[in-house]
Amino acid sequence: MSFKAKWIKPKRDFGDICPTYVREFTFEGEFIGKATLTITAMGMYEAELNGTRIGEYVFAPGWTSPKRLQYQSYDVSHLIQEKNTLTITVGKGWLRSPLATRAESEPCLSLPSGVSAILDIGRLIETDSSWHAKESPVRFSEIYDGEVYDANITSAHLEAVEEIPAPDCDLVPQEGEEIREQDVIIPVKIIKTPKGETVIDFGQNLTGYIALNLPENTQAGHVIELSFAEVLDKEGNFYTENYRAAKSKLKYICREGRQSYKPKFTFYGFRYIRLDSFPFEAESLFHNMTASCCSGGFQHKTPISAIAIHSEMERTGFFSCSSHLVNRLYENTLWGQKGNFLDVPTDCPQRDERLGWTGDAQVFIKTAAYNYDVEKFFTKWLADLALEQQQDGQVPHVVPDTIRAGGSAAWGDAATICPWNIYLAYGNKEILERQFTSMHKWVDYITSATQDTNLWTGGTHFGDWLSIEVPVDPAVDCQKIGTRHDFIASAFYAHSVSLVVKAGKVLGRDISAYEALHVGIVNAFKKTYNKFYTQTEYVLALQFDLVDDHISTAKALADKVMADGCHLTTGFPGTPYLLHVLSENGQADLAYTLLLREEYPSWLYPVTKGATTVWERWDSIKPDGSFQTESMNSFNHYAYGAVVDWLYSVAAGIRPTEDAPGYKKVHIAPKPDTRLGWVSAKYKTRHGWVQSKWQYIEGGTIRYDIETPVEAEICVSNQKYTVGKGAYTFYERLGEGI
Ligand code: BGC
Repeated sequence: MSFKAKWIKPKRDFGDICPTYVREFTFEGEFIGKATLTITAMGMYEAELNGTRIGEYVFAPGWTSPKRLQYQSYDVSHLIQEKNTLTITVGKGWLRSPLATRAESEPCLSLPSGVSAILDIGRLIETDSSWHAKESPVRFSEIYDGEVYDANITSAHLEAVEEIPAPDCDLVPQEGEEIREQDVIIPVKIIKTPKGETVIDFGQNLTGYIALNLPENTQAGHVIELSFAEVLDKEGNFYTENYRAAKSKLKYICREGRQSYKPKFTFYGFRYIRLDSFPFEAESLFHNMTASCCSGGFQHKTPISAIAIHSEMERTGFFSCSSHLVNRLYENTLWGQKGNFLDVPTDCPQRDERLGWTGDAQVFIKTAAYNYDVEKFFTKWLADLALEQQQDGQVPHVVPDTIRAGGSAAWGDAATICPWNIYLAYGNKEILERQFTSMHKWVDYITSATQDTNLWTGGTHFGDWLSIEVPVDPAVDCQKIGTRHDFIASAFYAHSVSLVVKAGKVLGRDISAYEALHVGIVNAFKKTYNKFYTQTEYVLALQFDLVDDHISTAKALADKVMADGCHLTTGFPGTPYLLHVLSENGQADLAYTLLLREEYPSWLYPVTKGATTVWERWDSIKPDGSFQTESMNSFNHYAYGAVVDWLYSVAAGIRPTEDAPGYKKVHIAPKPDTRLGWVSAKYKTRHGWVQSKWQYIEGGTIRYDIETPVEAEICVSNQKYTVGKGAYTFYERLGEGI
């Protein structure tokens, strides 16, 4: 379906104030037809018909490359009356908010708060100069800085609008998942900090906003001002330095009497809020709340609650085991995904960044596809990636591209790694069809950009990003420390070319040139890099099949880990594969040791420090309780949560196969370890649920319970069984096999 309607904006410049567009119309007699509203805007919009919000999509029309804009259609038949008022409020949203490194000269920043809509009620009501605009109560709203809302602005006078040219981009129907409100979280504590601040703790770091429900005795002109934070500092005071330039504030000016409010066009990454200005005695207000909790329906009576929002994705994966710390790490990763899958896979939801970092997305995609059904989510984002790719194939660091720079190894490789993993998880080769040009253009870019033949040397890369071997100060020349950048670049070059070859084979393309290129890279790599110096170097060489002898290389990696103090040192590029290359190559014991380690640096260390989401750094809070540098210290960065893929695919052993992608056949190879008494996982494939459980039972026996909806290859205790749909139980006596 195509959509083309006129665009309008207020005739007068409203400045920061978000306009509400108004169109009144009548319908005579009883409405029995179908009414559809199709709409998009330059920024974000919220539409109401006769005072009722249309749809559940928050932050529509979503966030895409500025080369295209999604539009949405809503069935509004049930809202039509005899006399109708359609209103549409438009905020800056992602398109018009200043975002990190977005140049002031970017054309999108000078766009007006335009809207384009058609209401089809048998006749068409289209945005045109007969509409009106008025000031809305949203006095200011931006992604990073928050919102100012004056509830007293209820009847601003109607003003003229004018027709404007359509933006210079394609209009496309909604392609991604809708963003929706998902969880309501009530406060767990009110805290008086040593500095005397009144702080509310929601007990969970999340992405979203708060809902206010204010009592009868609220007075007009009362002001509520809130600040948001992810953590309290060592002393227990409110800490916002890691938000950098993002103000992340909320100001609400009350009207008389009972009222409720939620921000319309902004979001926050937070666990705590500080009541900077609050016209009620917080404790007594919340005391009343407890009373109403008991009488039920507390969510709506809570004066302040937190609302978590994310793209609507079906939960498909569940994992639990005997370690409560591992379970919390798993939960933290789920929250990391919820908080950062906001139409675009973002690095973090709180500081002045919140961008679609390609590297983070490729690091996390396997985990993401276990936890939730992300096919639609990534299909949309990958279309934007392809659109934002340069002519020469260079992939930008972030998609949508607000930075206008790209070409880093392990970041640009999102172009090949993401489509391939979506194909493996869901088995639909259309994603490869749609992305194939983008995939091979990325490796063609490398071939043209490198200073070498068959290796990727030169260029500017992020390297083994946030590895503990790399200095915290970004001003230090990281090229010379830690994993060699040319090594990472060449290893990912090999991997990306191998994925182009695989995808080309699925699509029946002639990929002989890429096959030859792959052989050339592998040979050059083996010749050039015959000694590895860091864990990430071992890991990448093993994972991307760039060594001849996997078993002895994995043994050497194990020795390196031990020499490093029996802990990991990997950054973003190496971390997702570390446990895999160990457990695949005879070092499963060490993989479990690393998983279960609680001291810094490790996956569980943040959990022992009370983390409720995955941290950006291994030591975002240092062992002495102080924080890592505020210039780069997010407490909700999913990248290191990539270890959860290992929990599903190795600890529980549930994996897709390349010869029957999308779980048309399943590979189930659980790997027990005595340090975990049991593991249980299930995954909803497109063909039904796969389940894998194991537990140590009395007498040194392991019991495996496996269920598959399709043909499966089950590997337990070094035995392989090919089975059909069904439930199977195996017992393995330790040391004796099945
Ligand atoms: C982001 C990262 C990203 C990185 C690349 C950071 O500022 O938060 O997650 O991948 O930059 O350098």
